[in-house]
This record gives sequence, C-alpha cells and structure tokens, in this order.
Amino acid sequence: MRRSERLLRNEFAATQAPLLQAKHAPGYIYTSDDVYEREVETIFLKDWMCIGREEEFAKPGDYRSFRIAGEPLLVVRNRAGQINAFVNACRHRGVEVATGRGNASKFTCPYHAWLYDLDGRLISAPFNDGVRGFDFDHCALPPVRLETWAGWIFVNFDADAQDLGAYLDEDRVRELTAFLRQDELRLADRWDFELDCNWKLVLENLMDMYHTGVIHASSFGKVFPRDDFQYRLTANGYHAEYQSLTMCPDGKSPFGAMPWMGPEQAPWMKASGKGVDRNHPLYAFTILVRPCMNIFARYDLVQPITYFPLGPNKTEVSVFTLFPASLFERPDFDAEVRPYKDFIRAVIEEDRAMLRSLQQGLKSRRFTPGPTVALEMPIHHMLNRYLDRLFGSERRPAKQSGAPRLTKRQKQRSVAKRPARRSS
Ligand code: FES
Ligand SMILES: [Fe+2]
Repeated sequence: MRRSERLLRNEFAATQAPLLQAKHAPGYIYTSDDVYEREVETIFLKDWMCIGREEEFAKPGDYRSFRIAGEPLLVVRNRAGQINAFVNACRHRGVEVATGRGNASKFTCPYHAWLYDLDGRLISAPFNDGVRGFDFDHCALPPVRLETWAGWIFVNFDADAQDLGAYLDEDRVRELTAFLRQDELRLADRWDFELDCNWKLVLENLMDMYHTGVIHASSFGKVFPRDDFQYRLTANGYHAEYQSLTMCPDGKSPFGAMPWMGPEQAPWMKASGKGVDRNHPLYAFTILVRPCMNIFARYDLVQPITYFPLGPNKTEVSVFTLFPASLFERPDFDAEVRPYKDFIRAVIEEDRAMLRSLQQGLKSRRFTPGPTVALEMPIHHMLNRYLDRLFGSERRPAKQSGAPRLTKRQKQRSVAKRPARRSS
C-alpha cells in the first residue's frame, strides 16, 4: 500500500460512518494493483466461487478451462462420472494443458506434449529417459477443491476452507433459495463477456437500485417501486424481495410462473405489506453468494450472474438463464427463449459504457468520493464488509463492526441480521 496508514484510516473512516453520513470508498480501492493483489490473496484464494452448472459437463471428458483471479483452472468430468478441478498448468513448465472447452479423452500439453488423463494423472512424457528420479506419480495436475450445490459447481483454492454447505449457510443461502428449486432447472443460456471495470463495481451495480430507474428506465426498470425494495442484510451479504418485470421485453412471460412458485410470501414481505406473491408476474428476488455471484429470480426464471476479476480494471462476467427442465420439451421453447437472450444483452449494454466511465472517473486524481444515499444501503454494507476483510479490524472500532447504522425508517424497511450457524 503506497499511501500512509494514517491517510488510509481517515479515508476508510468516511466510508464506515453511518449510512447517511458516509462517503463511498476511495477510487484506488477499485484501481490499484496493490489492492487487487491483496484481494486475490484474501478473498479469491480463500472463498468458494461458482464457475458454472453441472449440466455443462454432461458427459465424461467434457471440460472447460478458466482463469480465476489469475489462476488457471481446468474442470473436467472423468470416466467414473465425477466432476473434478485441477490447476491447469503443466507440471513441466507451466503451460495450460487445456484451453477453451469441449470434450477430450486426454489432455496433451501443447508445448512439449506431456499427456494427462481425465483425472489429471501424467501418463506420458516424451524423452524422459535417463532423467534421474522421474516420477509420474509426482507429476499429476494438482487438484483444486470442488463441490456442488443445487446444480451449481463451486471451486475453492484453499485446501483448508470449510465445506461449501457451511460456507453458504453463513448467509443462509441454501435456506433462503430453497423455494427456487434450482436443481430442477436447466440452463437455457450462458453468456460470457468482459466489462472494462473493477469486479466490485459489477457487484455494486447489481445491488444499485439507485440507477435502475435511470439507466434501465426503458427496459426492466419500467416497473421498479424503489421505495418498496426490501433489503435484508447478513454477515457477508444481503438478500431482497421486490417488484420488477421479468427479464424479457415488456415483462410478458410466455411461460408463466415456475410450477413451484405458489401464492405465498416470505414472512418479512408479508409483514411489510409491500410484497407480491411468488407466482405474481412482478415478483422479484435476489441474493448475494459472496464473493462474486448474485442470484436473481423472477416468477418464471432464475438468472444468476458471476463476475471474476481479470485484473483491477477488467472483469469476466457470466449470465446464466435457467427455466424449469419440463419447459425444454416444448417445441417452441427455443423460439420463446430468444427474446430473453436478446433482452439481457440489451440490459447489460445499458450498463457497459457507464461502468467503463465509472472506472475512468475513479482513476482521476481529482475525484473525491461522494455521499451514500439511503438506496445505497446494501452497497454501504458490502463496502464495509469488504474493507473489514481486506484491511482488518484496525480500520474501525469494534463497536461498529456489525451492520451499518440505519435510521428508524430504514430499519422498518430492512432487517439487519447476523446469521445462525447451521450444520450442513
Ligand atoms: S510445458 Fe507442458 S510439456 Fe513442457
Ligand atoms: Fe444496471
């Protein structure tokens, strides 16, 4: 960190102030190489991260390569039907042994042709005769932890991390999303693309209801009663139910509600008097699966978004659009899904230039962060969780280490909760 610790503490103090007295985080949090390195070590090499759906690896040999926060990763289904993850770096000189995605019976390193099987074992290495102590068993691709939940694949580079279930339960993710029955959904569309901004700006943008009625006023923001937005904060994230059109033109779903979305409301929505039933065309739900996945749902679909940093100024984003598996039998399914695919691309285009401009502005030496407004409550919460995690408890007094302080009105609109730890 090039700035003095004292300056740093003063700048963070402004962000840690109560919501309506706080300032956004300083620009270098989003632009600095040093901060980026620190968050890779602290967050991306420690947390569980979702890389896709099990159904994307349907057959033995189906594979896909990734670069997650700079780490090359290979995910592949083996002959026994198990999906595994490996460090995608050849044990000879480190070249990626697989690129892109596809189906393979073996992986040949493109540099000197070392050959690996679907379990990451080295099975041949040309011209190794005479190499003293050459040991095939010690030249396997190192495994990376992989676990699944509700059809999703998660990886973790930390061999000592807690199990995925316990990790998700810290923010009650499994319990709060059970009604979506994600393991009965199928992937209709996966769209991968890059944005020219820091990964945290994607996260913030996905919970920024302030901009929805502005940038997205002609798409899904046509119906967006922002005052009714019910955020509920958890230790590491938030979840919310609200009213919004579904993610196709004019919010007119050709499919109707998912069969299991009944005429009920979460207790906190019922108590607020602001909710609609889960099978209502305006029903909307979101939850953060830290560090870099937001699950969004409407009455007819589930549409999670993941975002992995490719450096401080670039982020790889994936949007997954899922519908009940039974719908895929319909002869008109592909035609009916097309408008959803076009719509999400149009919505992201509405954000793209703004995020690039935001990243530029944050680089300016003349920029000083402005105040946070009530609608930015979850952003304020997440910024402070992030700063706590990255810079430790020295940056804020212990008595302020919980959820942000809210006004009485904000408290009525949102419930800040510490999660109960549950066994998986
Ligand atoms: S780097 Fe892979 S075989 Fe040489
Ligand atoms: Fe947006």
